[in-house]
Amino acid sequence: MSDLHLLPQDSFAPVRAGVVGAGYVGLTTGACLAHLGHHVVCADIDEERVERLRRGEIPIVEEGLAEVVAEGLSSGRLTFEVGAAAAAADADVVFLCVPTPQGADGGADLRYIEAAAAQIAPVLKAGALVVNKSTVPVGSTRAVEDVLERPDVAVVSNPEFLREGTAVYDFLNPDRVVIGADDRSAGERLGDMYAGLNAPVIITDPASAETIKYAANGFLAMKISFVNAIAAMCEAVGANVDDVVEGIGADRRIGKAFLKPGPGWGGSCFPKDSRALVKIAADYGYDFTMMKGVIDVNDEQRRRMVAKVRAALGAEPGLGLRSRVVGVLGLTYKPGTDDLRASPSVAIVEALVAAGATVQAYDPTVAVGRLPAELDGFTLAADPYGAAAGAEVLVVATEWPEFAVLDLDKVAGLMADPRAIVDTRNLLDPAAVRAAGLSYDGVGRRAERPRHE
Ligand code: NAD
Ligand code: UGA
Repeated sequence: MSDLHLLPQDSFAPVRAGVVGAGYVGLTTGACLAHLGHHVVCADIDEERVERLRRGEIPIVEEGLAEVVAEGLSSGRLTFEVGAAAAAADADVVFLCVPTPQGADGGADLRYIEAAAAQIAPVLKAGALVVNKSTVPVGSTRAVEDVLERPDVAVVSNPEFLREGTAVYDFLNPDRVVIGADDRSAGERLGDMYAGLNAPVIITDPASAETIKYAANGFLAMKISFVNAIAAMCEAVGANVDDVVEGIGADRRIGKAFLKPGPGWGGSCFPKDSRALVKIAADYGYDFTMMKGVIDVNDEQRRRMVAKVRAALGAEPGLGLRSRVVGVLGLTYKPGTDDLRASPSVAIVEALVAAGATVQAYDPTVAVGRLPAELDGFTLAADPYGAAAGAEVLVVATEWPEFAVLDLDKVAGLMADPRAIVDTRNLLDPAAVRAAGLSYDGVGRRAERPRHE
């Protein structure tokens, strides 16, 4: 966690800010701006969410967020309101942090951005600054200007690079702040708001800022797809991906970050943003075949994980898995969050359920009896051992730290033959798993030669 006592700098001038949308990005932005010393009204259309936030109840799992929200509420610098207009009415700077989900054509659906812009347009103060923090295609800064029809208001792009699970830390410790502004003084005005952060501010034109966001997510997704493809190759040639990553990562031009093999990238952003990048490029006449390949490798990776489970069960290709029992550890798309959006773990569960398997899953953020409505066909266990009980195969689908310290002898005792672990996150030590009498299959790890043996 970052230091919550970060002090405003001498030159610091508090700003009256409005934040539209109190989700992962908006709530983090609002609470962190208040932490930096600004006066923030954070608004959402979800009345229940606003009520809970007023009581200091945090609707999402996000480390450190409760503390910054509590700090903002008690200092009086952070308040919560219903509706975008309430955030904008008294603000000098308004941040749009609403969803931009994938549309039917693969591109970003801008309906929430356009609705929010239309709602704030009549109440914006003259000379206000509107900041687009949502991830939006090239040209969207202009599109917001068109909806606002307020020539007295400047619109700038300010893409957000925080990760879920470390959102507060990332917001307060960014590698860079990117601002896209036609009018440089509007960009500098926003840059001044971040004066309390020790980060370089890159001011560019709106199209470049919007492109930076998609290019960053596309590049990170590419790194993961690359390592997953290398992992598949390692399995084919009998190499060990852990050693390969260590070997290539030691080259400072490559580095080790974002080269962890797994079941493929998921979450609320990489899947939609990678497809939106392909769509934006196509709209402007460029066939982004490389990004299409990155997406294909990712789709294939999920199928590969399901094939590993089938292989561990000894299931004939193409045959159903009726009466076969599979335990699954983890449902979120990564640890540290309760976000199930586009989770590879959920995709694996759904594929197993569709094949007829009996699936019993456990996730530390999904309470028994509280499975989201869109998920069904499987049961939730109260703890990891409950997911293992009677399971022929136990899948490590999300690398929650608690799964790394399971009592493997207990797990082996609870499971049924063939007692196999499919570790889609390379979380466990293969030697320790085998020593407990379980078989082990990871991602790109050499079959019978555990590392360092
Ligand atoms: P989210 O779904 O968690 O939150 C969005 C919130 O906006 C919701 O609570 C919704 O009720 C509210 N909302 C929608 N329309 C509104 C309106 N007119 N007025 C007031 N509130 C409204 O979404 P998110 O994950 O925070 O993502 C927001 C944007 O930020 C997206 O464009 C996303 O791509 C981008 N982004 C997300 C992350 C991330 O880690 N989640 C990181 C960087 C960028
Ligand atoms: C990602 C980016 O990292 C953020 O910079 C960006 O702001 C955000 O998307 C966004 O635009 O919403 P996030 O989705 O929260 O953040 O999570 P990541 O930590 O990037 O993980 C994304 C997916 O990649 C997860 O499924 C994770 O398990 C997977 N991953 C990540 C790997 O499989 N291997 C890795 O080495 C890293």
